[in-house]
Amino acid sequence: MARDTFYTAVDIGTDKVTSIMARIGTEGELKVLGTGVVTSQGMQKGRIENIDEVKEAVGASLEEAQRYIGDGAPTGVYTSVTGTHLSALNTKEVVDNPDDVGDITKKLLDRLLRGSFPDVGPNQEVLHVIPIGYHVDGMSGIRNPVGLHGNLVEVEAHVVMGESVALKNTVKVIEANKASVKSMVLHSLASAESTLTGDEREMGVVLVDIGAGTTDIVIYRQGQPWYSAVIPVGGSQLTRDLSVALKTPIYMTEEMKVKWGSVMPEMVASDEEVVIPSFQGQPKHALSRRVLCEPLHDRMLELIKLIVLKVRQSGLREFPTGGIVLTGGGAAMTGLPDLVLKTLGGQVRIAYPEGISGLPAQLRKPAFSAAVGLLLWGIKHQGETRSSLNGGRSIMGSKSWRWGLGSKKATAVR
Ligand SMILES: Nc1ncnc2c1ncn2[C@@H]1O[C@H](COP(=O)(O)OP(=O)(O)O)[C@@H](O)[C@H]1O
Ligand SMILES: [Mg+2]
Repeated sequence: MARDTFYTAVDIGTDKVTSIMARIGTEGELKVLGTGVVTSQGMQKGRIENIDEVKEAVGASLEEAQRYIGDGAPTGVYTSVTGTHLSALNTKEVVDNPDDVGDITKKLLDRLLRGSFPDVGPNQEVLHVIPIGYHVDGMSGIRNPVGLHGNLVEVEAHVVMGESVALKNTVKVIEANKASVKSMVLHSLASAESTLTGDEREMGVVLVDIGAGTTDIVIYRQGQPWYSAVIPVGGSQLTRDLSVALKTPIYMTEEMKVKWGSVMPEMVASDEEVVIPSFQGQPKHALSRRVLCEPLHDRMLELIKLIVLKVRQSGLREFPTGGIVLTGGGAAMTGLPDLVLKTLGGQVRIAYPEGISGLPAQLRKPAFSAAVGLLLWGIKHQGETRSSLNGGRSIMGSKSWRWGLGSKKATAVR
């Protein structure tokens, strides 16, 4: 199949909607054609709450990105999903490959993965089914068993599911803007595409994307996504806490957080003062910067504890050798790597989106890892997906579309 030349990403965050249009250059490199970033409206903790507002924000961001391209801009988009309606589990499925059939074929593996679909309720959709690894006749850790000889083939797969209504709403806000969904991608998987190195994936790594309303986690082991989770706490919680502490409105507090905030008050000079601007008749006044940083430290520490809890729930006793990679807008918080290092030890790094050329300077930030990652996901998984939730019975963002009808287990899969 011919590879697509054009790719469009629409990352619908709680804070902002980002559209990036890009093309594959002659050398095979991904180049930006246009970008559009607009403030999100109508999103609550990663979920669409006011569909009209989100439609409008998506439209404005696509329009902005298209401005650079003009008519004929590509309309099939890769879009991100997050929210606590998502859940994930790892499944195991075995298939018999009788001796007279011969070596393991691609077709057999397709059948095997198809069998990995879990039973989902009528209100759930399967978003991804990603093979983690294969066992052939008891031999484990096989990445690609095609061509091997073996009788008993087992696959372990990471399966991500979401609420049908929430996923359909994502499709709606894209389709309302004369575009179609090529694939919906779990937000953390998109971020992983543009941030994680091959070594980190192999060694095992915890990727944490701290957005405005959610913190999205994916753990890679032996090169593959192995665990994923969404925590309904993000950077906006820090802003809210600070707003309560300072009795200042959100918009003003957000600015102060970014300008003066740090989650490591002990690294701020004890005598440093900042001036809180006047508000609603309150005169401007001086405040110790350390005092301003305290609520930010407390909330971030709470979030780190929640991340640790998720890592434990995954079944890991300790952080993998690749450590923890932080991205998303909230990862730009001053003092964060120091606080994580102090609390958890090990390897910590803040990740910026990589793998694309021509990204405007204002998008070369952790907040845009998911948007860039969506394009890279699209390139990698191109042709594996279809873009419809017709009748609420389709699979988005998973290889399984190609296999067509007849999964033996999943009721919500056609
Ligand atoms: N320099 C910064 N310092 C602290 N927080 C930041 C900084 N830049 C962005 N943030 C925070 O990151 C969050 C937005 O992250 P982002 O990944 O853009 O969110 P979303 O994907 O949910 O739209 C906001 O809470 C914002 O305050
Ligand atoms: Mg985000």
